[in-house]
Amino acid sequence: MSKGKVDALLGIVFGDEGKGKVVDVFTPKYDIVARFAGGPNAGHTIIFEGKKFVLRSIPSGIFAEDKVNIIGNGCVIAPDLFMAEARELEAAGYDLRSRLHISKRAHLILPTHRVLDRAYEAAKGKNKVGTTGKGIGPTYSEKASRTGLRVGDILDGFETKYKTLKARHEEILRNLNYTDYDITNEEKLWMEGVEYMRSFPLTDTEIEINKALREGKSVLAEGAQGTMLDIDHGTYPFVSSSSTVCGGVCTGLGVAPNSIGEVFGIFKAYSTRVGSGPFPVELFDETGDKIREIGHEYGAVTGRNRRCGWVDLVALRYAIMVNGVTQLIMMKSDVLDTFPTIKVCVAYEKDGVRTTDMPFDTEGWQAVYEELPGWQTELTKMTSEAEFPQAFRNYVKYLEQQLETPITILSVGPDRAQTIVR
Ligand code: IMP
Repeated sequence: MSKGKVDALLGIVFGDEGKGKVVDVFTPKYDIVARFAGGPNAGHTIIFEGKKFVLRSIPSGIFAEDKVNIIGNGCVIAPDLFMAEARELEAAGYDLRSRLHISKRAHLILPTHRVLDRAYEAAKGKNKVGTTGKGIGPTYSEKASRTGLRVGDILDGFETKYKTLKARHEEILRNLNYTDYDITNEEKLWMEGVEYMRSFPLTDTEIEINKALREGKSVLAEGAQGTMLDIDHGTYPFVSSSSTVCGGVCTGLGVAPNSIGEVFGIFKAYSTRVGSGPFPVELFDETGDKIREIGHEYGAVTGRNRRCGWVDLVALRYAIMVNGVTQLIMMKSDVLDTFPTIKVCVAYEKDGVRTTDMPFDTEGWQAVYEELPGWQTELTKMTSEAEFPQAFRNYVKYLEQQLETPITILSVGPDRAQTIVR
């Protein structure tokens, strides 16, 4: 934790690395936890006091009673889904209204943005992105087109603004011949969500965060998705629509680059991807199925099967470079406990050309592997590094050498206690 700084906690591959659990472990050290990008496309599963919560828009620091949580200007927010998520937490006894601050500059996801998401996907035919259907792309497009609605808009003359934008969307949908939809019920709930949001502190969060930093407070920026889904640096066009990388912390919270402290990069001991797009390490055999089954690799938002493969050093090196990762956190090491050998993708190859640098387009590139002996020992009950089997230590050391970055935290199970800080 760095005082007067923003530490970033970022998924550095395709998301779903387990950021929620780590934020939960980190939160006691910070004054503020803030989301800077994405929206309800994220699904951070947290098990707190025996109860499972899936957070989509709300930062994972919300369980600690004395912390301020911020939904920053770089986020997009769907009032109906926000209301459902927040009410579940309120029902479980968490007081949100005094501690959850929402940026007036965050953009609103309208019901018609979700219809547009479906319509654009349908129009893409075989080239579907495989989005979460939450309206993320259309909302960020609208932000860039300068026609979007922001949270602050709900405070003044909202009805007219909403109707104007909705009419625009309906026209686009008519032009796309996508008219078979009915948002009547959804819209009612959405409006209820808008009303509900009005009871939360809707603030200039960038001013609030900078003031806190000047007072020497510490901020944890909680990433969503991962570097390979970043709009600039991911596997475009099979990406999400926001800046998921460290640069996105600055734009998505309104903090200067020199206020960034540590950059924690989270990855799993293997790789997964949800949705379409190239994935050179993907396994189509029983090894991939076994990783999925042991790792419970099914989407938190959509329930889809996650595509599974071995760890990818090409992607990790690229992500470390783009984000300026200072420390790595390896999650779900225990999922590989039973494998006799562990493979690591060290390069990509295509048409006789080998590269260790991330190509412009990873389509058609094959993974080149090195093999390491598996540890074939249960890691889940281990509470200190001293207990680790030699083969696991070798795996960690090998990754650190290849990535030239220390792995400072190792997760060996879903529980908070199964987190080993080195
Ligand atoms: P969108 O963000 O819903 O537009 O989806 C774009 C791509 O990002 C799709 O391939 C999704 O599966 C993927 N995606 C979005 N959010 C997440 C996430 O939280 N974890 C993993 N993949 C995600």
